[in-house]
Amino acid sequence: MKFLCTGADLGEAASRGFEIDGKRLFAVRRAGRAYVYLNRCPHRGVGLEWQPDQFLDPSNSLIQCATHGALFLIENGECVTGPCAGQFLAVIDCREDARGLWVDI
Ligand code: FES
Repeated sequence: MKFLCTGADLGEAASRGFEIDGKRLFAVRRAGRAYVYLNRCPHRGVGLEWQPDQFLDPSNSLIQCATHGALFLIENGECVTGPCAGQFLAVIDCREDARGLWVDI
């Protein structure tokens, strides 16, 4: 497992981008739980954020692809609307302990 950030570095309803071993990832916290995905839209393979560390829609309840507006569920990465509807973001296994967030890549 590789260290990603401290728990405090990922606040509730916040998102953050990372680059580890040449892989671009992002993390989102919702209802206390952290979720990590590859930062790559399944449709064109581009990064999702519209600004650094901004991966969510205006309501902070869905992940949004800035390029075409596709929306993805935070809990499982499923695209629910947009050109890649029905496809999924690639999940990165993660766990959180007292020191912070760890990812399996
Ligand atoms: S690249 Fe994300 S919806 Fe098109």
